[in-house]
Amino acid sequence: MAPMAPNRGSAITGWAMALPPTIVTNEDLSRYLDTSDSWIVDRTGIRERRVIYGPFAPRPADPLTWTSPPMGIGTTASLAIEAGRKALDAAHLGAEDIDLLILCTTTPDQAVPATSSVVQSALGLHCAAFDLNAACAGFVYGLVTAASFITGGAHRVLVIGSETLSRIVDWTDRETAVLFGDGAGAVVVEEVPGDSSLLGWDVGVDGQLQPILYADHGGSLQMVGKEVFRRAVRATVESSQAAMERAKVTPDDIALFVPHQANSRIIEAACARLEIPIERAAVMLDRTGNTSSASIPLALCEAVDAGRVADGDLILMSGFGAGMTWASAVWRWCSDPFQDCAERPASG
Ligand code: UT7
Repeated sequence: MAPMAPNRGSAITGWAMALPPTIVTNEDLSRYLDTSDSWIVDRTGIRERRVIYGPFAPRPADPLTWTSPPMGIGTTASLAIEAGRKALDAAHLGAEDIDLLILCTTTPDQAVPATSSVVQSALGLHCAAFDLNAACAGFVYGLVTAASFITGGAHRVLVIGSETLSRIVDWTDRETAVLFGDGAGAVVVEEVPGDSSLLGWDVGVDGQLQPILYADHGGSLQMVGKEVFRRAVRATVESSQAAMERAKVTPDDIALFVPHQANSRIIEAACARLEIPIERAAVMLDRTGNTSSASIPLALCEAVDAGRVADGDLILMSGFGAGMTWASAVWRWCSDPFQDCAERPASG
């Protein structure tokens, strides 16, 4: 890595997503669970999700007795590899340009080694790599970590949020099975001349709340839904306010709000309390469900690709999750920081 330098800015110069092809609708779920499309839409805003594992994975089996993984169909690593490769292409960078890979996931493929090792090798990277598990706040934790590494000397960091929650969901439990999905989103965070795009951030955890959302090794997700809901709204609001305060901006300055995609009612409540018009929120969960650390990069990619941000706009990202963790960041968007200036620095 290059030596430390003062005032090293950072920008997101490439972004991409990966979703498994299998779509599971609420109707599909209500065929074998005691649930309905109207309950799921009214209480969560979710209409469909993408999955790799579970009763709808593409293989012949009885949905409720099937347990083993569908080999070759996909993993947390394969989704991360697809999103990571596309993000590198979008940034016009090669594997040799990346100094660090941060894989944010709460569903690693193995206990050992870290899934980031598999992704690093498949992408042909020759850099440091580690997994980061801060649950649904993981991607924003990763973004803040990436910007800190850049301040400390790294030139380019690949941050990926990738999850296969369908592997740890109990498909017979209607209270959780309807909520989660699989996917990956990736960004390249790059050293740029001038100020950092990360204007303010807030990360935290209240470890006393770990019993309200957890999965043991070999077990399935257990959640006290109502309590998580209540805490989630509070964490999103307070953490977003802290990040905005440190960035010295107000909700009026935020062009795009990218909240964790868990429940549309949580997003609406957070927007109302933050006084950010709901029209400024990025919402993708109707088509993906809750994809934990992939949810913010997925919604960010979709909003950016839809032209919802212009260079100079401020984006507020805010996640919360098992732990309970939270993380928020105010980010000034600048997709092509090298257009008016000299060449990018060589990789270090
Ligand atoms: O990434 C972070 C992770 N998680 C979250 O952010 C989730 C936070 N929590 C939530 O989003 C909501 O609490 C849920 C969507 C999980 C549940 O919504 P709720 O409005 O809190 O419903 P509830 O748990 O109070 O359940 C209401 C009723 C219950 O029936 P009774 O006791 O009133 O007869 C449940 O058994 O709805 C029932 N129910 C369902 N009914 C149909 C629970 N799940 C379902 C279902 N379909 N899938």
